[in-house]
Amino acid sequence: MERIYIFDTTLRDGEQAPGASLNVKGKLEIARQLEKLNVDIIEAGFPIASPGDFEAVNLIAKKLKKPVICALARSLKKDIDAARDALKPAKKPRIHVFLATSKIHMQYKLRKAEDEVLKQAVEAVKYAKRFADDVEFSPEDATRTERNFLFKILAEVIEAGATVVNIPDTVGYTVPDEFSDLIKAIKENVPNIDKAIVSAHCHDDLGLSCANSLAAIKAGARQVECTINGIGERAGSAPLEEIVMAIKTRQDFFNFYTRIKTQELYKTSRLVSHLMGIDVQPNKAIVGDNAFRHESGIHQDGVLKMPRTYEIMKPEDVGFKESKIVLGKHSGRHAFVKKLEELGIKLTKNEVDKAFEEFKKLADKKKEIFDEDIIAIVEEEVKVIPQVWELVYVHTIAGSHTVPTATVKLRKEGKIYEDAACGDGPIDACYNTIDRIVKINPKLLNYNLKAITSGRDALGEVTVRLKHKNTEVVGRGTSTDIIEASAKAYINAINKLLYSK
Ligand code: KIV
Ligand code: ZN
Repeated sequence: MERIYIFDTTLRDGEQAPGASLNVKGKLEIARQLEKLNVDIIEAGFPIASPGDFEAVNLIAKKLKKPVICALARSLKKDIDAARDALKPAKKPRIHVFLATSKIHMQYKLRKAEDEVLKQAVEAVKYAKRFADDVEFSPEDATRTERNFLFKILAEVIEAGATVVNIPDTVGYTVPDEFSDLIKAIKENVPNIDKAIVSAHCHDDLGLSCANSLAAIKAGARQVECTINGIGERAGSAPLEEIVMAIKTRQDFFNFYTRIKTQELYKTSRLVSHLMGIDVQPNKAIVGDNAFRHESGIHQDGVLKMPRTYEIMKPEDVGFKESKIVLGKHSGRHAFVKKLEELGIKLTKNEVDKAFEEFKKLADKKKEIFDEDIIAIVEEEVKVIPQVWELVYVHTIAGSHTVPTATVKLRKEGKIYEDAACGDGPIDACYNTIDRIVKINPKLLNYNLKAITSGRDALGEVTVRLKHKNTEVVGRGTSTDIIEASAKAYINAINKLLYSK
């Protein structure tokens, strides 16, 4: 099996994503995580672009010792000087120089003829070579470059010392068969190609960046340039996680390997998303929240019997804890029973029938059913719990300059109990008072308030999760007054605790 080198450009091409901008500290944090992920090369930035970019490349070069640290430069002395200076502390530095080679770029952007471009590229590589053994050259817009000119410039930059020749599909224009054919043609027509590693750098304008990268390695490329979550200029770059997992999952087809620690993928994805402020779409391959979640009853039944029926990768291999059965209206009885088991709920067959029927009714109204909903169904519809304590009234005082205080009146077996207490807020005061009356002091694990109708007089639903000794219960209460809804939910949970005792 041959190795594929993973060149991560999240901090350079990825940072060119509209709206994404990282400070130096954030870049170092991502670089450290990329090192943990075990990428081979980190393109840390474009030092001439800004003082911040320079500083980030310099800091990353200083702090990271394992991966190759690469800096981008146009084929200009001043850019190469900046890359050299930023990379000074690097243990394994690489200078990456680029120059556009397609007719449209040479004519309209560079306003240069082929021979001028050729000369500039060769001189740039020779100049970069003075400062780094490892020099990469990219003919920008290679996939729209006239082939003979591309072969010629690649041969000459290799002659000048380039160790890696990168083939960018700058505008995401190519398609897998065509790109594969181009890489093969480069291998066949550039006489000294064996002296350099061929690399692929794809963009996602047609949604083909991953497919094109894989086609390139199949055709002879041994380095792929990619970014975490596929972020990058316009529609983005080739997503690292997809390329790596395709190579791993379909090793039977590719017969290659990478050194990526795939268990770090999810964590890296979320770190990049968080620091760049760009969400990962839920259905994103490999790292999207739904990538290992199953909702349909047929799929859930299959996965519960044998995960590989609907999972081609193990979720833990990419850093997800486990695959998730999501209960919703398409879920079947098998998944529902499994969920009851997970929650430690034991029911008779008739009780399961009743609970499943109620679950289906609720699932028709609600997109996703949470554990709390299942517990509530069982407690409210199947095993009806006696309401030992009942709320008679609650009165709270709160404000900017007042100690929050609650007075609560409860009824138990016809007798009225009343007390008052303070708290951190009116709800805390109310819960402290109830604790004093019922004489148990459970731990509040979770409090959730949501509006279940709209408008200013909306009905609020409070859900609380309490723990007392080893028992956990969920209580609910509804009212247009959120303090009353909170008190009702708490008392409902207390009654469940008493019942379980
Ligand atoms: O897409 C591109 O052409 C680039 C080059 C700088 C390699 O990012
Ligand atoms: Zn690019």
